[in-house]
Amino acid sequence: MDAKEFQRRRKRLMDMMGDDSIAIIPTSPVRMRNRDVEYPFRHDSDFYYLTGFAEPEAVAVLIPGRPSGEYILFCRERDALMETWNGLRAGLEGAVERYCADDAFPIEDLDDILPGLLGDQERIYYTMGNDPAFDQRVLSWVKHVRDQARSGISAPDEFISLNHILHDMRLYKSRQEIKAMRHAAKISAAAHKRAMQSCRPGMYEYQIEAELTHEFMRQGARSPAYSSIVGGGANSCILHYTDNDAELADGDVLLIDAGAEYESYASDITRTFPVNGVFTEAQKQIYEVVLEAQLAAIEAVQPGNHWNAPHEAAVQAITEGLVSLGILKGRVRTLIKEQAYSKYYMHRTGHWLGMDVHDVGDYKVDGEWRMLEAGMVLTIEPGLYMAPSRGLAKKWWDIGVRIEDDVLVTKDGYDVLSKDMPKSIEDIESIMAGSEAA
Ligand code: GLY
Ligand code: MN
Ligand code: MN
Repeated sequence: MDAKEFQRRRKRLMDMMGDDSIAIIPTSPVRMRNRDVEYPFRHDSDFYYLTGFAEPEAVAVLIPGRPSGEYILFCRERDALMETWNGLRAGLEGAVERYCADDAFPIEDLDDILPGLLGDQERIYYTMGNDPAFDQRVLSWVKHVRDQARSGISAPDEFISLNHILHDMRLYKSRQEIKAMRHAAKISAAAHKRAMQSCRPGMYEYQIEAELTHEFMRQGARSPAYSSIVGGGANSCILHYTDNDAELADGDVLLIDAGAEYESYASDITRTFPVNGVFTEAQKQIYEVVLEAQLAAIEAVQPGNHWNAPHEAAVQAITEGLVSLGILKGRVRTLIKEQAYSKYYMHRTGHWLGMDVHDVGDYKVDGEWRMLEAGMVLTIEPGLYMAPSRGLAKKWWDIGVRIEDDVLVTKDGYDVLSKDMPKSIEDIESIMAGSEAA
């Protein structure tokens, strides 16, 4: 992503904020994993969306119309000793030269400088609730300005969450964003193929997870976008299963939900396949119902359709399928009304996808489902989870199937970003037999 893209985003946001306002956008705090060992740092998505700055301990401040500079970046200073231990920093010069800040200050000076920037602004755009410690600092800066009222400086009296305008911007993906997401999906597709090709009865779920991670990393995606779900047999029916520590049994299915993060953009793909490479008759039947539902839901991704149209299409196909297999009995319309399918399909058909796997953006506007528009990216991921406890004939037990793709809404329809990953029974069996090149 080039510096101009970030500049454009800041400008758009500042145009919407208007004059007499200030936005404060901190990156994520560093979190400890144990004693003095940190979790790998992942920047805050809102912060990164506006700055492209990946270092920890940084705060962006936007002040539209400020004569001496609209964009200020607080960050760590260069420090030879710290850089010897922990790696290079952009420093204040880098913040200006490489990240196009109008001005840069040391992060340690935040408490001294911020109150001065708040003075005489009317509105503060700041999203409360992400980091209580930072919330307190923001409030203390406002109080500091209020305390100076006698010297004629007025304090902002309106707090506005950035969620609304910024998250609406993030919902519509630019060409560069779509390119990154397409690449993330491509890497994930290669990883899913690798997992399918290496799977054998007797392996452990974490060994398959290792194949996924290996392919992600090999292709430059240093982290998954979320914890990979690798669930065989009964575990395929646990929606967010991440233990990934069981042995894979001959005759079971394996459900893998795994997506690479590439250049800060997520992919999110699920495939389900037989551990031994050949679907049983019962597995085939459940799989075909989910696949029909997924294809029908993808067809419903059209500009002008509302957000829920793909879910409605999936529910229709799932219910029809369950009736034709004799698992549900009754009229399809009545069963849908009673949500009879929800015993086996208990989640929604998708979510927005972007820098965060469950990305930002409202699903309803004024109480109505939002219209799909070109540039939005969503997942389509129906499933069926046939756990024994759900009153089923034994032949269906422990067949959990989800099929998930990443779909871009285009001007005249859709484009499946994850189309590199096959999903027909025939294609899966031939990949597993090694007769299809990865
Ligand atoms: N991987 C989480 C989800 O599919 O929503
Ligand atoms: Mn998903
Ligand atoms: Mn998923």
